[in-house]
Amino acid sequence: MNILAFESSCDETAAAVVRDGRQVLSDVIASQADMHAIYGGVVPEIASRKHVEAIAGLADAALQKAGLQRRDIDAVAVTYGPGLIGAVLVGVNFAKSVAYGLGVPLIPVHHVRGHISANYIAHLDLEPPFVCLCVSGGTTLIVDVKDYTKMRVLGATRDDAAGECFDKVARVLGIGYPGGAPMDRLSRGGDDKKYTFPSVHVHDAPMDMSFSGLKTAAINLIHNAQQKGEKLDLPSLAASFAGAVSDMLVPRVMEAARLCRYRKVAVAGGVAANSRIRGDLEKACAQAGMELYLPPLSLCGDNGAMIGCQAYYEYLAGKRGGLDLNAYANLDIEKG
Ligand code: KG4
Repeated sequence: MNILAFESSCDETAAAVVRDGRQVLSDVIASQADMHAIYGGVVPEIASRKHVEAIAGLADAALQKAGLQRRDIDAVAVTYGPGLIGAVLVGVNFAKSVAYGLGVPLIPVHHVRGHISANYIAHLDLEPPFVCLCVSGGTTLIVDVKDYTKMRVLGATRDDAAGECFDKVARVLGIGYPGGAPMDRLSRGGDDKKYTFPSVHVHDAPMDMSFSGLKTAAINLIHNAQQKGEKLDLPSLAASFAGAVSDMLVPRVMEAARLCRYRKVAVAGGVAANSRIRGDLEKACAQAGMELYLPPLSLCGDNGAMIGCQAYYEYLAGKRGGLDLNAYANLDIEKG
């Protein structure tokens, strides 16, 4: 079954053709990151306009790269939330018209379920159940992936997402947008014990997380130093900050896997590219005798292949979208 999939929830327009869930025939992406970098963050209206400009060309490119004709497509899939509403709407409307034009089913896909699926593409042996740490610019969740389309949220951030935290601190440091990857590069060779950041525990919800205090502490530290004319050790600041974020995430996901009695842990989303978090998870899983599944860096960020993969399993579970399918800024991963 060949699925033509679209993703447009934030600042990447993406299209892919995926066969039978795990075989990626093509995966093309048009990133708008440079466009938003001058503003230090995504400007929703610009994002929507750029998706409109890019999406038709990407659909053709995805078919061409896959070596397929339109008649070879068996279904169309699209991210229908969560995300920037105008941006998601572009993908949903385009996918609806393509599915209608081709006379094939339309499959709506939850964006974060798609991120989890990136692991199925990278690890052909991976099957649920497992626990997945979903960390991106807009989401931080610990999810019990009971089956391909059955999920339960075990823990969630109470405020900022982990990626947002990296982005905001990077913005104050003036090292670029999106800030996660430059922060990661900056941290190399830094002393991760040099600066201390608050460690937060949510009362009565041990799996929940909070990043706003951590973000504010880092920003205050930078502003105080600037006001006093003090020079900060930036690699050590970045390393200490990454360590604090990792300390919020890694023990919780390990505890979640233990409570679920699973032997498998996966990671998903843009922040899954972070070297400190990947390293800490490798150590923790090795120590606990658990199998760790990390997506390659190319599949951590937003892409169409992950949507095409998850769509296959949603299709098998009977999910379809009609021409009245809407886009959603917020969408519950459990309901999908
Ligand atoms: O999954 P993604 O591409 O988009 C969303 O669905 O949000 O994630 C983007 C986020 C951004 O916040 C970006 O700064 C962060 O992932 N990110 C990283 C790294 N690479 C990307 N954060 C930490 N370390 C990285 N190496």
